[in-house]
Amino acid sequence: MSGSELERALDLITEIPDFPEPGVLFRDLSPLFGDPTAFAHVIEALGEMIGDGVDRLAAVEARGFVLAAALGYARGLGVALVRKPGKLPSVAGRVDYELEYGTASLELPVGSVDGGERVAIVDDVLATGGTVAATAELLRSAGAEVTGVAVVLELAELRGRSRLGSLPVHALRTV
Ligand code: PRP
Repeated sequence: MSGSELERALDLITEIPDFPEPGVLFRDLSPLFGDPTAFAHVIEALGEMIGDGVDRLAAVEARGFVLAAALGYARGLGVALVRKPGKLPSVAGRVDYELEYGTASLELPVGSVDGGERVAIVDDVLATGGTVAATAELLRSAGAEVTGVAVVLELAELRGRSRLGSLPVHALRTV
């Protein structure tokens, strides 16, 4: 894969103003997910970013699941599926946090990570960092070591990295 192939893939991400509320510029990865060649390039690039020495991936509902499922399959890694509230019969932990637009909560299913596992978080967009910070907190509470974060798109002005301490953050594109 060349750099320009990856750039072309990332160029499929569209911007939708004033969604889900006025003043928010929504980034839609649907065209990227819908293009098999672009999607393959993105999965390959995310795999390069998470590196070796990872035992498991973790991803957040819903768009993170799409990326982590493909990357987990490609790399032979299981995926811890971090859910929005009310979906799980058995919850190992819950974290409430602030989003760019509103508040949210995330829950980790019981048994989704083993103590001492090295887990990389995969998501589509890093905005305020609240989602990744909450996910990292859930994973650490369950005894995992969080090795880093790989996202397709980082929105730099929202300063998500500043909420993540020393956690390595890798983005395929930063805007
Ligand atoms: C979006 C995106 C990230 C999160 C990033 O998820 O998929 O998970 O916001 O924002 P943050 O860095 O400010 O926390 P959303 O809650 O819109 O869910 P979706 O994947 O179900 O569309």
